[in-house]
Amino acid sequence: MKIAILKERASGETRVAATPETVKKFAALGCSVAVEAGAGVIASIPDEAYAEAGAQVADAAATVKDSDIVIAIQAPDPALLAGARPGAMVAALFDPFAKRAVVDAYAAAGLEALSMEFMPRITRAQGMDVLSSQSNLAGYKAVLAAADTYGRAFPMMMTAAGTVQAARAFIMGVGVAGLQAIATARRLGAQVSATDVRSATKEQIQSLGAKPIFVENVAGIEGEGSGGYATEMSEEYQKAQAELVSSHIAKQDIVITTALIPGRTAPRLITDAQIATMKPGSVIFDLAVAQGGNVEGSVPDETVIKHGVKIIGFSNTPAHLPADASALFSRNHFIMFQAFWDKEQGKPVFDEEIGNAIRLTHGGKVVNERLLA
Ligand code: NAI
Repeated sequence: MKIAILKERASGETRVAATPETVKKFAALGCSVAVEAGAGVIASIPDEAYAEAGAQVADAAATVKDSDIVIAIQAPDPALLAGARPGAMVAALFDPFAKRAVVDAYAAAGLEALSMEFMPRITRAQGMDVLSSQSNLAGYKAVLAAADTYGRAFPMMMTAAGTVQAARAFIMGVGVAGLQAIATARRLGAQVSATDVRSATKEQIQSLGAKPIFVENVAGIEGEGSGGYATEMSEEYQKAQAELVSSHIAKQDIVITTALIPGRTAPRLITDAQIATMKPGSVIFDLAVAQGGNVEGSVPDETVIKHGVKIIGFSNTPAHLPADASALFSRNHFIMFQAFWDKEQGKPVFDEEIGNAIRLTHGGKVVNERLLA
């Protein structure tokens, strides 16, 4: 089995899908690994480190030539994969709902697209879950970026010249990113509160030493859909949530929003009128900015100032931590292939539950239920 890793070509992408560590691990499974020259440079991995780990470092065409498996962060243009073996597997982020044309092109090229973002949220797949590994880093980076943009300090400081007040940080959406954002803001010394539509998160917020802010006494507050994800909320709930947020947000210095609903644009959590109630100099980091934004007026990779409040958000937050994001993403890839490695056949053979969930294309067709529905 030959595994190919190309340099990422998407604008702003800094990560790489394999590290010297995973190259060695794939070699131990009996694979040969080829890495495109320069693929790891931005993630601080020089070509020599891949070569020392046993990879063949080559140009793009030689890297892909006769490969059985291509692993990537963002799915490469299938035109780049023309030299791969027929039916080669490509494991990467496909953003399948938004980029359906790419999925169709993979089918037409006879490639087997494996969408890492469709990994089921089940215990045995936790180590294969790139959304978790990357969201965790994103939650951390969001708080650091907000702290850097904020013109004041996070911790309370008592100095001879007077006291600096602790910042108040409010985390909206307490999934993987939100939990890490709470922990990071607490470590920096902020007073932290948090909210979510899933009532199960209340205890998690408390266990991290933050204050839960929750809508009470409204029908349908469980907010939990399949696989532990959020569902869209009723109008009554949305109204109650907006009122609660309005009164709370006016007192906050830092707000981090992380709310996502799979396959849909991000829910709007903060309106312009609510921003107007915040103190000048406050900072909002919109982690959902690339999925339509939780915050009215947020623009990816720009600092928007509205009513004196700075609104920021990155189009690709994990890409701001290239080395760690690559290390975790590449381990997710390896853990998946290792779990399904059939030693006798010397290739991965996926089981039904995970295989059917992540496989987008096979035998020239789009086969994934979520795309056919
Ligand atoms: P996500 O990125 O889809 O959403 C982020 C958070 O926003 C979620 O907590 C969601 O409930 C919340 N949210 C959505 N709409 C909202 C609204 N209108 N107002 C406030 N908050 C809103 O979520 P993520 O981080 O991917 O995690 C989803 C769930 O999956 C969690 O329960 C997590 O523990 C679970 N999970 C399970 C894994 C496994 O077993 N393999 C791996 C990773 C996560």
